[in-house]
Amino acid sequence: MQHLKDFSPSKKLYIETLGCAMNVRDSEHLIAELREKENYTLTDDASQADLILINTCSVREKPEKKLFSEIGVFHKMKKKDAKIGICGCTASALGEEILKRSKNVDFVLGARNISKISTIIHKPKAVEVDLNYDDSLYMFSQNINSSYKALLNISIGCDKHCAYCIVPHTRGKEISIPMDLLLKEAEKLASKGVKELLLLGQNVNNYGARFSIEHPKVDFTKLLSELAKIEGLKRIRFTSPHPLHMDDEFLEEFAKNPKVCKSIHIPLQSGSTKILKSMKRGYSQEWYLNRIDYLKKLLPDVGISTDIIVGFVGESEEDFLESMKVLEYVRFDTLYSFIYSPRPFTPASTWEEGKVSKEVAKERLQRLQDLHKKILTENSQLELGKIHKILIENNKQSEVETFSEGRSDTNRLVKIEGKFINLGEFVNVKVTHAKNATLYGTPC
Ligand code: SAH
Ligand code: SF4
Ligand code: F3S
Repeated sequence: MQHLKDFSPSKKLYIETLGCAMNVRDSEHLIAELREKENYTLTDDASQADLILINTCSVREKPEKKLFSEIGVFHKMKKKDAKIGICGCTASALGEEILKRSKNVDFVLGARNISKISTIIHKPKAVEVDLNYDDSLYMFSQNINSSYKALLNISIGCDKHCAYCIVPHTRGKEISIPMDLLLKEAEKLASKGVKELLLLGQNVNNYGARFSIEHPKVDFTKLLSELAKIEGLKRIRFTSPHPLHMDDEFLEEFAKNPKVCKSIHIPLQSGSTKILKSMKRGYSQEWYLNRIDYLKKLLPDVGISTDIIVGFVGESEEDFLESMKVLEYVRFDTLYSFIYSPRPFTPASTWEEGKVSKEVAKERLQRLQDLHKKILTENSQLELGKIHKILIENNKQSEVETFSEGRSDTNRLVKIEGKFINLGEFVNVKVTHAKNATLYGTPC
């Protein structure tokens, strides 16, 4: 018997996603739930939508500040009866206050509560931001758009309390998703043609530390080796691991498992042990470099990316130079760098002594990025002549230009000019030249 809802015309959903890969995954869940349970289809035109969702990020101040002007813009363009819902991390952080500050918002749904989407849309002015809510066992509706690449959450929340970071306040305590659920989901994805899986969590290599049900003892190393047994799955990536949990066993599994891509994000945050201590990161510069040395001994060609914050409270010129030193030593392939942004609910936001001025922070960011640019250009030269297997993830065929591009196992983007290759195909390419950070190659 067909369900009645199948006969009614679908409603339209417009969704804007800010922030990290976790939010991208949460948006996929929101879309799938609304499609399956409430008969919504996606539109990229907000003025045609019956429901507008903003999936917000609050890790730094800027996007949060923009939220209220954005709500105003959507309110002006939307259909008369369309609803506006605020989801994600800013929803968790501000909760009720969002309704107080904007009468144009219909509901607020925190990052930890997204499985409640199909009920909250029917509750005017509802606020669901319970930080203790646990949807680690919830089976979200299937995303029908899964292609050759997919995201998979392996845990929710974060148990660390880095002094600058709002995430534990927006996503609550860390809970791992049971391994059999993850394996089932990964098998399902692989059977639909997914070749590359990106595992997500705030501290992926702390996987198994806490479950909400009785669970056999497992860790991230075990999860990787079990996922790798799934037929059809060709590549496994993950983000983010925490340097503190990078024991030898984990690095060895990472190095030897052929399906685990040889690129890794190792967030440094600061090169100065003094600053790392006040950030409450739990490791020193020495520990960080020791892990890098061991990793490079196992895998000399590994791709490494990182996050660095400049201008943290108490960061002196000498401390900053320690970050420059680590950057120079490790020679990261990708750098995400940020000026420290004080966030509510975090200890560092109340510290007055040793504040770094905007000008100094900006100037440090510039120096850091200049050094990284130089390293990147040099790293690219080392790629010349190498052969990489790339997974095509972007292509174009037009009178003006034709190209295909994809990522190597080590996460380097390689562009093939003049050839149109289907998305999701693996191709061996020889790197022929490099322009700054971009690599160019020919199939071989
Ligand atoms: N769990 C991940 C990080 C998630 S937040 C980890 O521990 O690495 C993503 C990045 O945002 C962080 O790595 C950090 O570099 C940056 N970030 C977090 N809070 C910040 C703040 N208050 N100001 C500036 N950057 C911040
Ligand atoms: Fe934030 Fe630290 Fe948790 Fe990462 S590990 S999400 S930086 S508190
Ligand atoms: Fe991600 Fe931003 Fe939340 S970085 S965890 S969406 S605060």
